[in-house]
Amino acid sequence: MTAWLRDCWYLALPSRDLRGGRLVPKVMLGEPLVFGRDASGRVFALRNICPHRGIPLHHGWIDGDGVRCCYHGWKFAAADGRCLDIPSLVPEQKLHLERIRVAAPPVREAQGNVWVWFARDSAEIDAAALPPPPLAPDIGDRAPAVAIAMDFACNVDDAALGLMDPTHAAFVHTSWWWRKNPKKVRLKEKSYIPYGAGFRMERIVLGEKGSKPYRLLGRGTSSEITFELPGLRIEHVKGDRHSVVALTAITPCEANRTEVHQRIYWTLPALGWARPLVRHLARVFLGQDRDVVVKQQEGLAYKPNLMLVDDADTQAKWYHRLKQEYLKAQEEGRPFRNPVEARLLRYQS
Ligand code: FES
Ligand SMILES: [Fe+2]
Repeated sequence: MTAWLRDCWYLALPSRDLRGGRLVPKVMLGEPLVFGRDASGRVFALRNICPHRGIPLHHGWIDGDGVRCCYHGWKFAAADGRCLDIPSLVPEQKLHLERIRVAAPPVREAQGNVWVWFARDSAEIDAAALPPPPLAPDIGDRAPAVAIAMDFACNVDDAALGLMDPTHAAFVHTSWWWRKNPKKVRLKEKSYIPYGAGFRMERIVLGEKGSKPYRLLGRGTSSEITFELPGLRIEHVKGDRHSVVALTAITPCEANRTEVHQRIYWTLPALGWARPLVRHLARVFLGQDRDVVVKQQEGLAYKPNLMLVDDADTQAKWYHRLKQEYLKAQEEGRPFRNPVEARLLRYQS
């Protein structure tokens, strides 16, 4: 089974899903959680199982600073999951309510996203000392112009490898408006460096011929792509006036279900009309990635030996090595040492 990394942030859902007092259930890393916003507007996550008789809490409702279970009305604090009220108790029944609690993992809201911290040891979390969740660069606290999520029926590694694979595009992302002929591949040369818990494709200048979409961002438009564990890809396209950032975050839900989140941010003020079109294109693209990985599962069911070939598959090799090192460093209680070495990757795509 593929390992789920811990002591890191995972993207749960877009902020806008928590409007109007909604309670949203989600399984992440095999754990049932419920998300909501308390009366003061603060986002929270609780384990989605009532400790009384096990009914999921999302069937209940938000009651001020907590969530009330729909079955017998027990109330749990949004902030830390402590039990605040058991309506059936009569005054002389002195139960220590504070000893009853549901787990409440740390959550953060930033740039229109809700992130959850999955700890290795939840007893040891100091929520105030956690690093900030991943952020899209250069866009302040804007909400995304486009936010989509898709379930991939595969494990987290297959989803991650499918998304970072540099040479499938010519074969998978084909349609009438994009690369009609998959046989036409060109030489690509990209320079990579180790970065954080991952690697970065160094900035390349785009559209030297001055093609129109790039000119919207100003002069000298360039692009940089960063991948970091546990499954975060950030593509940052910027000109001298504006930026576009595509953030992809991969969240394991169950052994063979992985949610892939795609967020697109831009600083261009007058591009609201473009949202439906960009959302549609992003859905088509991500859908193609999902469909091919689902087809792949038909073959993987027979547990074949797989191959990682030359530069085109070097990022896949790095992903495996990064993950191994991450787990080993945790096990040995030492700092993570990035195993990636700077190099130029050459491939046809
Ligand atoms: S099952 Fe939740 S209050 Fe009884
Ligand atoms: Fe793709």
